[in-house]
Amino acid sequence: MSQPQFKPPYCDAIDYQQILDADTRTPPAVLRERSEPDLGTGAIPIEHYISPEFFKAQIEKVWMRTWQMACREEEIPNVGDFHVYNVVGKSLIIVRAAENEIKALYNSCLHRGRKLVTHDGCKEQFKCAFHGFVWKNDGTFLENPMAWDFPQCPAEKMRLPEAKVGTWGGFVFVNFDPNAKPLESTLGVIPRHFERWRPEDRYMSAHVQKRVKANWMACAEAFMESHHAITTHPQIMPFVTDANAQYDVFSDHVTRHISARGYQSPFVTDRVYTQDEIAEAMLAGGGRGSLMVNRASTKVPPGSTARAYVADLMRKALEAETGRDHSNASDAELGDSLVYNVFPNFSVWGGFIPGLVYRWLPDGKSHDSTIMEIRILRQAPENGPRPESAKLRFLGENEPWSSAPELGGLGAVVEQDWGNLPYVQEGLEASGTNMVQLGRYSEMRIRRQHLTLDAYMDGRI
Ligand code: FES
Ligand SMILES: [Fe+2]
Repeated sequence: MSQPQFKPPYCDAIDYQQILDADTRTPPAVLRERSEPDLGTGAIPIEHYISPEFFKAQIEKVWMRTWQMACREEEIPNVGDFHVYNVVGKSLIIVRAAENEIKALYNSCLHRGRKLVTHDGCKEQFKCAFHGFVWKNDGTFLENPMAWDFPQCPAEKMRLPEAKVGTWGGFVFVNFDPNAKPLESTLGVIPRHFERWRPEDRYMSAHVQKRVKANWMACAEAFMESHHAITTHPQIMPFVTDANAQYDVFSDHVTRHISARGYQSPFVTDRVYTQDEIAEAMLAGGGRGSLMVNRASTKVPPGSTARAYVADLMRKALEAETGRDHSNASDAELGDSLVYNVFPNFSVWGGFIPGLVYRWLPDGKSHDSTIMEIRILRQAPENGPRPESAKLRFLGENEPWSSAPELGGLGAVVEQDWGNLPYVQEGLEASGTNMVQLGRYSEMRIRRQHLTLDAYMDGRI
């Protein structure tokens, strides 16, 4: 990267790279990479979060021009399967038109505009429910019951328009911009970094959505740094590095943060947790490790550490669950939060244990309402049938994230984040400065989001 790199001060606690030095296995080279451009300390205008006019302009300048994750390939496994992707008032039918071909057809009848489909399903043809115009599931026009009255609409002019489609790691991405650069230009380092972790070999063990009264960016940013743990998630402080997390900005679109497991937070200064206490906290719920091994109490073998011991439990649990050899999986890949974000609204966790995928979708054309989605991707067994993916659960207003059993203990953690979000939006609206301040290092991923947003809004990207 050509920009000047960040210079300390960092948090003075143990650094993530020092944690890797002490691990029992050599970590992959991608975890040794650092990219810390100095993005400065400028304040962020709250217009980005609270202005309906700004959001309206964003629809054309950002949402109609960026690559967005629409669904997983396993949601449309068979020819004719389709998923309806709704965003900012637009709608696409993401359809498997042939075994190896996925299309994104505009979900709007070319007669008088009715949506062709409103729910996911499987069809050979899309027949409009209003007057019966019919299209094949690859967008080819088939029939107009009143063809004699539409001399201006020969079949060749009636193909359903399409958005661009790209795939990576079992995810299907779409882009409304016909001139968009290929998906790879947005994903940057991601395919290389995820080569070992193979999200394409995973199935969804959870797929949960919930609406919140807050701007999509405010929601995304609640999941882009670790140092909110001290006040929002105090129960994870025995085993998580927060102020001393590592942050990377790889490109305009791709950022990462890494928070290690098995080391107590530097915010805890009044006591030193024993290795048994750390291991117990890691396995008792709330961490991804608890999705594989859940124990109320445990004993770390003499001479070992909670981090190495829990990593070993994960290695064994993964081998039992998948039949795949994980003897070379590093401790880091079996516990740490390796959180990658892709502008505008997609986030995917690396590593071998069950991984999280977040998406923050603006709720229709509202600047202050968001549908947040969490998926858990779990490794499929090496042999035998691929487990069926979880069906979408949409939580109602009074159903907390913790009421989705497929999220395990993570639901309660997300519920803690949720407790902030409506008040973040209300507080932004109530601002006396019309500005937001960001940490120079710990919040540089958030700063990058806003700089990239500005670049789209100004037409520089
Ligand atoms: S609006 Fe679709 S057939 Fe008339
Ligand atoms: Fe959080």
